[in-house]
Amino acid sequence: MTKATDFIPQAYRNNVTEKGSFQWSAPSNIALVKYWGKKENQIPANPSISFTLNNCKTITKLEFELKDNPSENYSFDLFLEGKPKEDFKPKMQKFFERVEVYLPFLKDFHFTISTENTFPHSSGIASSASGMGAMAVNLMSIEKLFNPEMTDDYFWQKASFLARLGSGSACRSIKGSVVVWGENDSIENSSDLYGVEFPEIVHSNFQKYQDTILLVDKGEKVVSSTVGHELMHNHPFAQNRFQQAHENLARMKQILVEGNLDKFVELVESEALTLHAMMMTSMPYFILMKPNTLEIINKIWKFRQQSGLQVCFTLDAGANVHVLYPNKNKEEVLQFIKNELIVYCQNQQYICDEIGNGALQLK
Ligand code: PMV
Repeated sequence: MTKATDFIPQAYRNNVTEKGSFQWSAPSNIALVKYWGKKENQIPANPSISFTLNNCKTITKLEFELKDNPSENYSFDLFLEGKPKEDFKPKMQKFFERVEVYLPFLKDFHFTISTENTFPHSSGIASSASGMGAMAVNLMSIEKLFNPEMTDDYFWQKASFLARLGSGSACRSIKGSVVVWGENDSIENSSDLYGVEFPEIVHSNFQKYQDTILLVDKGEKVVSSTVGHELMHNHPFAQNRFQQAHENLARMKQILVEGNLDKFVELVESEALTLHAMMMTSMPYFILMKPNTLEIINKIWKFRQQSGLQVCFTLDAGANVHVLYPNKNKEEVLQFIKNELIVYCQNQQYICDEIGNGALQLK
């Protein structure tokens, strides 16, 4: 089994790289079985499984240049959509600190990080998964210059490992189209250290599965996910929840293989509500759903009952609603969303996405 120390490189053989640049895109992802609660170093308290998305992405260009005078500090500039973004720097600094032991070249270079998202900023969609995913693959491209013999498996595994250290769920944003993170009995080679591609053949019912993201609330969250994870320590239901996530992952595996959409709907919604139930039963307790989140959920239930279509919702740590449905029902469901749901969105904003294939090197 791979250990964290396996990602500490031996002395690099190739030392000729002075400057250059890479550019990668990495997508966001939506969890079906949710990760909530963690141990030290972003080790998940329970396993999770997600669909990788296709359209909600971060595109990051990473330029690097050998410093004239190597120093004990990290040196980088950070731009979001072409403008300096000072308030992102502490997070990046922390990321560099966490990954330096695995990427010992970090202090030798000055980096220029230019990043943009395909989704509107402050939309309430967290860019941390796609953002850290895109950074991680760029850094692996640099490491590959030092170690050209690196295998593809190592490249992808370590990219996910690094992304995890940036933001836990980011480790599921490297590969597509279904990713499992967290050691569990149902998925061979699953790991707490990185995400792995779902090893079974996913039923064609899930091909091009749709995710329409309804932007209910774009405001700052009242409780960050960092604090939320923390509150699972000493949570009265934590152990049961962690156990349940293991069982639900095994169930989800079977559902994805068999293509059972009724069971999919039931399990995905139950997971979303369980995640929020954990928040509501933390001490201190908190609620991230908004009145319009509940309005949407009720409308989806009513529509499902009337139409017989297997449309369901899921939620992240926020008020926005992800509406999940089969590609074959795209037209009817989109019409329903436009007719009945977008009134509950801020400025009627929503994003059409679908299951995707992971990070992509550009140029
Ligand atoms: O990756 P983090 O620390 O932002 O946690 C996100 C956790 C959820 O989005 C709520 C669930 C998940 O598995 O993605």
